[in-house]
Amino acid sequence: MTLLVRKVKELREVLKGKEVGFVPTMGYLHEGHLALIRRAREENPFVVVSIYVNPTQFGKGEDFERYPRDLERDLKICKKEGVDVVFAPTDEEVYPFGYLTEVHVKGISEVLEGKFRPNHFKGVATVVLKLLNIVRPRRAYFGEKDYQQLKLVEKMVRDLFLDVEIVAVKTVRDKDGLALSSRNTYLSEEERKSALSLYKSLLLAKELIEKGERDAKKIKEKMREFILSFEKVKKIDYVEITDKELNPKDFVEEGDRILLAVWVGNTRLIDNWEVGEPL
Ligand code: PAJ
Repeated sequence: MTLLVRKVKELREVLKGKEVGFVPTMGYLHEGHLALIRRAREENPFVVVSIYVNPTQFGKGEDFERYPRDLERDLKICKKEGVDVVFAPTDEEVYPFGYLTEVHVKGISEVLEGKFRPNHFKGVATVVLKLLNIVRPRRAYFGEKDYQQLKLVEKMVRDLFLDVEIVAVKTVRDKDGLALSSRNTYLSEEERKSALSLYKSLLLAKELIEKGERDAKKIKEKMREFILSFEKVKKIDYVEITDKELNPKDFVEEGDRILLAVWVGNTRLIDNWEVGEPL
């Protein structure tokens, strides 16, 4: 039985005394989300999935309005996966009239994604803290697909002494390597081919590193050139090589991250890879 809950007060009642594994999402669930849900199902007696397209993490002119939504479909999927509660609040529940508090995780919010999406991570940190305080889970699950988001949440949890274990789940990819994302639904057939440039450029970096290349600048340059050779690629926001904590690196070592954001047509896609891991 999967219960649909829309109110904070009701959720608090339902969750009293429960040891909860929590998967926050914006819905339109795909196999990437399912990997988080299944992991939560394995590790917790009670599983809550939230479905909420959080307006404060979208910038002006971004895709908030056209972001895909289908609660009926998501509910069916959650039922099949044995989710105990789907929490799908309204905006008024999450941001009641007169709210004034925002969460800003300094530094990490301003680099990479933050440079191109100002205020994005303020919206993410604020809604994730709200959701964690509403659900009060034992464990919460986040995907490495959004690596910077994962690091931001880990940092916030440490800084604010939140009593929750953050569990990181590896990126789930389509058969051909494209990282699954709700935003992939925006892609035309032609754009879908160019979207592979992200994954394939990471493969290229992997090959270069395996051949002994360590110079981050050279690797990034080759990745850029390769990505721009795809027909529907409009522009590259960034290709960066960092350590685990997102500090830029000049020379690449195992455990570092390669992260990138690319516009394919009007769709902005991100991906990343941990150097030394399979791809
Ligand atoms: P959303 O994009 O729906 O993603 C929900 C969770 O699923 C995130 O932790 C994300 O990293 C993970 N995820 C998405 N695609 C994945 C993939 N291909 N493989 C593995 N995990 C994947 O991220 C958000 O929503 C929002 O920012 C949210 C945290 C819910 C706050 O609003």
